[in-house]
Amino acid sequence: MAKPSHATWGGRFSAGPAELMLRFSESVSFDRRLAPFDIQGSQAHAAMLAHVGLITERERAAIHRGLAAIGREIAAGQFTWDTRLEDVHMNIEQALTKRVPAAAKLHTARSRNDQVATDMRLFFKYACAELQAGIRGAQRALLGLAEANRDVLIPGYTHLQRAQPVLFAHHLLAWMEMLDRDHGRLGDVAERANWCPLGAGAIAGTTLPIDREFTARALGFVDAKGRPRVTRNSMDTVADRDLFLDFAAAGAVFGVHLSRIAEDLILWASAEFRFVDLPDAFCTGSSLMPQKKNPDSCELLRGKAARLQGNLQTLLTLAKGLPLTYNRDLQEDKPPVFDTFDQALVCAEVLAGTLAGLRVRADQCAAAVADPALLATDLADYLVERGVPFREAHHAVGAVVRLAEKAGVALDRLPTADVLAVHPGFGADWATVFDLRRAMAKRRGTGMPGPAQVARQLAHWRRELR
Ligand code: ARG
Repeated sequence: MAKPSHATWGGRFSAGPAELMLRFSESVSFDRRLAPFDIQGSQAHAAMLAHVGLITERERAAIHRGLAAIGREIAAGQFTWDTRLEDVHMNIEQALTKRVPAAAKLHTARSRNDQVATDMRLFFKYACAELQAGIRGAQRALLGLAEANRDVLIPGYTHLQRAQPVLFAHHLLAWMEMLDRDHGRLGDVAERANWCPLGAGAIAGTTLPIDREFTARALGFVDAKGRPRVTRNSMDTVADRDLFLDFAAAGAVFGVHLSRIAEDLILWASAEFRFVDLPDAFCTGSSLMPQKKNPDSCELLRGKAARLQGNLQTLLTLAKGLPLTYNRDLQEDKPPVFDTFDQALVCAEVLAGTLAGLRVRADQCAAAVADPALLATDLADYLVERGVPFREAHHAVGAVVRLAEKAGVALDRLPTADVLAVHPGFGADWATVFDLRRAMAKRRGTGMPGPAQVARQLAHWRRELR
């Protein structure tokens, strides 16, 4: 049954928590990964305490050394975590207390509420940078694939129906833009994380003469000019979980992008499309059907997107309806965040690997894009250039398409006389629009899929991803 409390807060309790409660309430099993940030935060806090004279320089040095030693033990896997000490903060503080008498002064003017907020802000800055690097890796693989296949044309699709021809590289560069927005969103999250919570205390700061700006500077919570950034309201500081939502939202949107890219790849790798061969190293076979090669990496990317969305939903639900300020519910904010980080990072790596090993079937792409019907819009534009209003041109070309369908011939094989009979705007040269290279070259405006534009965009990404 209940024993005396091991916890740092045990003073007012005559008995410790039940074993069941300890198991239920511990978080060290998942928040121990905050240890490097917790140690960094405590070292900066101790430095500030010494700076304002609340501890001596000797005490600061002893705390600093003790924390560094604990950090090394944790990194080496030699530290004994104790779930009875609840969380990462109390585990480290107690371990320090056993080695360094001055440790008893470390928690001066600090609460676990501003401590955990600090740990998480340091974590978010780190996690965003890691994910951004992962996304850059996927973008580089994408650029390599686009450059290696710069002349390949495929049909672009709307409603999953063949619409108009595009350079394969143009399709890949659409993914590039999506990934780049994910990269940017993570940069925004890191920027928002860049405010120091320490000094907010449990809810209402402290009566002690601390120097919050000193701590902020020591932890790198500074603006572009090196000026310290400290949070402005102590209650908001310990209650705020917006960053968790922003980070998970960036992860969820990244997941949506991964899923859409994966879906394109799955379609392209199918026997119905055969535009690409996925690398064996990222596919698996069937235990029953010997001929199968399944696009598992892509399917898992699509599946992980559900998980990334779920993490955001968990956090939204967790935060809604909580009264200010800290409530213990908020301890549940960490698993979804860590999961989003871990899954998004491995997804970026898997996407890079899958793209790097992709083989494009140029012959199949050429066959798919050869259908002259893909240039029906160009035929309408031809009429427009000859003075026909677009709505009328659209209608006339529709009639030509119907004619070809009825005759069972390709659009560009209709007898010229039949086409001229449909609308007086058509001339003897009507079929020149079906020259695919010419049609692509005409799509030369910014953002269009013609070769000159795509070359410009590729050059842009080569510079950007250097
Ligand atoms: N493990 C706790 C959490 O992550 C640390 C903060 C505890 N604060 C408190 N008032 N019990 O939420």
